[in-house]
Amino acid sequence: MNSESPIGVFDSGIGGLTVVRALTHRMPHENIVYFGDTARVPYGPKSTQVVREYAAQDTDVLLEHHVKMIIVACNTVSAVALDVVQKRAKVPVMGVILPGAGAAVKASGKKRVGVIGTVGTISSNAYTNAIRQLDPGVQVFGRACPLFVPLAEEGWIDHKATELIAKEYLFPLTLEKIDTLVLGCTHYPILKQVITRVLHDAVTLIDSGEATAEAAALLLEERGLKNTSTLKPNLRFSVSDVPHMFTEVGERFLGQRLGKVHRISGLSH
Ligand code: DGL
Repeated sequence: MNSESPIGVFDSGIGGLTVVRALTHRMPHENIVYFGDTARVPYGPKSTQVVREYAAQDTDVLLEHHVKMIIVACNTVSAVALDVVQKRAKVPVMGVILPGAGAAVKASGKKRVGVIGTVGTISSNAYTNAIRQLDPGVQVFGRACPLFVPLAEEGWIDHKATELIAKEYLFPLTLEKIDTLVLGCTHYPILKQVITRVLHDAVTLIDSGEATAEAAALLLEERGLKNTSTLKPNLRFSVSDVPHMFTEVGERFLGQRLGKVHRISGLSH
């Protein structure tokens, strides 16, 4: 393991590619190994116990690639199982909750922050706890928006149905007069435009993936693990189901071509 070793990133499926996109923008020379557990997605509605079991197995997949750090792109795993990953890996581990919470605290002048995510993420209160630990004066209002996940995968980015659903989900948050909203799910950055429209530009959106990329860049620099090579980096993608859908939808999430996607078999259901 050295500075040229890859960063390992895992997610429940395809959504973590928005985090990879943020990582490649912030650190264009880092090699990355990505694993998406497409055979068992979604994690959002599953029990904490099951998500913790999956997180352990996902970590083992990345460790086989001798990664220099692990980024847990999935908000649900970051919320309920980060300690599982940390215990298993001897390399630095970063979830998306703390960086997202930090960015929200910085951005919120009124100290009224909304958080949207999966049922698992919102009911864990992980964002609320992280934000209030950083600044106990901030009021946090959570809302699960599970339908955003299939809408983003379907590519219904500028669709009337998405706008209607967004209004329904976000209305209670506007009543709370939030000035900042954490996009606490890998898929939600895909729907930024419609969310901004529904909130009438009055609310700052926090992309947890972008905040995580920033924090990861600082961590690698601090630990002397930043890749100083200027060669074109190697991005390796693997999934647990057949790669067909992942490749098709994934390029929209990643913002570039995916290349060959590998399939990993043998994870238990
Ligand atoms: N990746 C998940 C998250 O960020 C969303 C999809 C799922 O439910 O697995 O929470």
